[in-house]
Amino acid sequence: MCWEKFARYFDVELRQVPLRGDRYLMEPDDVDRHCDENTIMVVCNFGQTFTGLFEDVRGIAAALDRFEERTGHDIRIHVDGANGAFVAPFSTPDLVWDFRLPRVRSINASGHKTGLAPLGAGWAVWRTPRTCRRSSCSRSATWAGPRPPSA
Ligand SMILES: Cc1ncc(COP(=O)(O)O)c(C=O)c1O
Repeated sequence: MCWEKFARYFDVELRQVPLRGDRYLMEPDDVDRHCDENTIMVVCNFGQTFTGLFEDVRGIAAALDRFEERTGHDIRIHVDGANGAFVAPFSTPDLVWDFRLPRVRSINASGHKTGLAPLGAGWAVWRTPRTCRRSSCSRSATWAGPRPPSA
């Protein structure tokens, strides 16, 4: 739902990988079917809403590496860790799905789910200040000090 809103508000074409047969997740071999030179990012669902399943971020990153070798097009990964980002470090500490993968440029997590924070609390973190677009930030002199909180 939130990605449909994002696509609508930012006027971005959304390409959703459909469920088919016994495949309930986006998989590395979906990259070639759904990405092209206009793709701005791939969102890996890390903790699918209904099943809790994690998409194979590492495998998808490797598929995007191969895509870049062939086309020269660098597609970033955003990890939607709304449900899984607080769980995976404890449940599967050896699973590599985060900034250890250079292609992962941003991650969001819903504090109000498994982070046990108050309803509505959520965070997005960017790999570097450079990968966080200025236009999505505002500066606050009072809240969070001199850091730019996301608008
Ligand atoms: C995979 C996924 N991403 C994003 C969201 C939205 O998260 P939030 O409730 O923090 O806005 C949800 C909500 O259920 C979700 O399941």
